[in-house]
Amino acid sequence: MRIGIVGAAGGVGRRLARKLTDHGDEVTGFFRRIEQEEVVVASGAKPVRYDLVADGPEVLASALRGHDAVVFAAGAHGTGADQTSLIDGKGVESAIVAADSAMVPRMILISAMPESGRGREISESFEHYLTVKKEADQTLASSGLDWVIVRPGRLTDDDGNGRVRSGLAVPYGQIQRDDVAAFILEILHEPRLTRHIVEVVDGPSTVHEAVDTLVGLYGTPHL
Ligand SMILES: NC(=O)c1ccc[n+]([C@@H]2O[C@H](COP(=O)([O-])OP(=O)(O)OC[C@H]3O[C@@H](n4cnc5c(N)ncnc54)[C@H](OP(=O)(O)O)[C@@H]3O)[C@@H](O)[C@H]2O)c1
Repeated sequence: MRIGIVGAAGGVGRRLARKLTDHGDEVTGFFRRIEQEEVVVASGAKPVRYDLVADGPEVLASALRGHDAVVFAAGAHGTGADQTSLIDGKGVESAIVAADSAMVPRMILISAMPESGRGREISESFEHYLTVKKEADQTLASSGLDWVIVRPGRLTDDDGNGRVRSGLAVPYGQIQRDDVAAFILEILHEPRLTRHIVEVVDGPSTVHEAVDTLVGLYGTPHL
């Protein structure tokens, strides 16, 4: 498959790019800063510099033509409310417009679980982050694309163990970025899972079993 990753130098993005290229997929890795190019190259992806805020969707569309799917793995990572609106919000809108106009049929969006931050004092900017994430989910869910929204728990950089708990709603927890990447790889290769929001945290099932169960319960059989 040909997959584009927006945010390919990020924590989940670079791990996903590596796993996909190891799997034999052709990956285009979109990154923002020139110093990130070597991270993308090291993952085996073809590096393409693209800024979700400065460059228009038509720039992304022209680089995405011919791809089977695009994964949105970018994020403002706590750089302020304005950046959150521009990247996690408007950036997703741009990627949807780009995928649509490039006739890339499928988009996987990394979102966040609604419980994120609960149980501690939430700053105004974190509250804003959750609002923007939900709005981006709504925008993608009402688009004409074939989409899957993945809501992981709190992300860690620990080594992955290939084991997760996933469903339409699961208890909040943490998950290794490596396992989120493995989960998205599996979803990219499972066309029967479409137009669903799925939550994922660390858990007892292999990634393959978890996605198989989702397909058994909610998959579109004729695909
Ligand atoms: N942290 C958590 O616990 C958590 C939990 C659930 C969901 N999430 C979500 O999961 C996703 C992946 O998280 P992560 O921690 O792997 O992300 P990350 O390491 O922060 O990577 C995000 C990537 O997006 C890039 N980016 C930012 N602005 C951009 C722009 N204007 N144009 C192009 N690229 C841009 C960043 O580049 P720069 O380095 O140049 O900014 C970075 O490479 C994010 O959407 C995040 O909100 C996070």
